[in-house]
Amino acid sequence: MKKALEILNKGGLVAFPTETVYGLGADATNDEACKKIYEIKSRPSNNPMIIHVSSLEKAKEIAEFNPLAEKLARIVWPGPISIVLKKLPDSKICETATAGLDTVAIRVPMNDLALDLLKNFGKPVAAPSANISNYISPTSAEHVEEAFGKKVYILKNEHVVLGLESTIIDMTNPDQPEILRAGFVTKSIISDILKKDVVYHESDKVIAPGMMKKHYSPHTNVRMDATELRVNEVGLGFGDIDLGYLNLSRRGDLTEAALNLYSMLRILDKEAQSQNIKTIAVAPIPNDGVGIAINDKLKRASG
Ligand code: TXA
Ligand code: MG
Repeated sequence: MKKALEILNKGGLVAFPTETVYGLGADATNDEACKKIYEIKSRPSNNPMIIHVSSLEKAKEIAEFNPLAEKLARIVWPGPISIVLKKLPDSKICETATAGLDTVAIRVPMNDLALDLLKNFGKPVAAPSANISNYISPTSAEHVEEAFGKKVYILKNEHVVLGLESTIIDMTNPDQPEILRAGFVTKSIISDILKKDVVYHESDKVIAPGMMKKHYSPHTNVRMDATELRVNEVGLGFGDIDLGYLNLSRRGDLTEAALNLYSMLRILDKEAQSQNIKTIAVAPIPNDGVGIAINDKLKRASG
């Protein structure tokens, strides 16, 4: 922890676990530090980062909270949801972190190590997922090491418990909350909390590059809704549909499937690449609860 704080204070990068995926963090008030993230990830500079803080009070120093956004934050934080709001004019977040936007996505992660880091550091931490841009997000320290080797200091010894990135909800207009990215905190959970209809953002205008069609992709093609394995395929099963390789959850549990998704895709991607196999076939995933987020990731990987 001491070393991690030293590095952040000097404008360096620290990878750390959250409950969703591993993040690659930098001081969100330091332009030079944030630039290093874009560089090392090969991330397009127009893709803003999520700002991580230790509490709602800290978040209020960064963004303008309307009453509905505050209600949501009080119930779901710490937790796997990022809230997009207007950035305060006197917020100390650097332009690089938010890619020049006048809004900002903020979250309080639910992981002891991450929260300790944020509390001790005191300042907000900009942290995208700790993977090379467009590849599968990391759910273990080993995945981070694979991407960045010794170039990045990794805080380890905590496991991610969810395995999918946070839900992103745009609350800049409290009359029309919009989900920009599906996750564990589902549309119906959010609308129950807000007592209000919530919609998926559906315009062609890409607000979050994470919404872009091709994203989260293995090198190998993905074929969804596969009920049998074809030639030149490796398989990723679910429940009773077992395609002979790995199974996301033999008992058909979506939470277990979410946690296994990225690590199993990585394993099958490597297997396919080494055997010159062209496609990963994935069994049908029920499209409810967190299954919506799983299918969304698979769609982007197969797009
Ligand atoms: O679970 C997570 O959210 C993980 C962990 C590390 O916290 N982080 C993560 O960050 O997934 P990243 O950079 O891989 O995805 C952040 C997404 C991007 O799609 C980005 O476009 C969007 O958040 N985003 C950031 N700021 C935004 C803003 N002001 N408006 C709309 N979208 C924004
Ligand atoms: Mg990412």
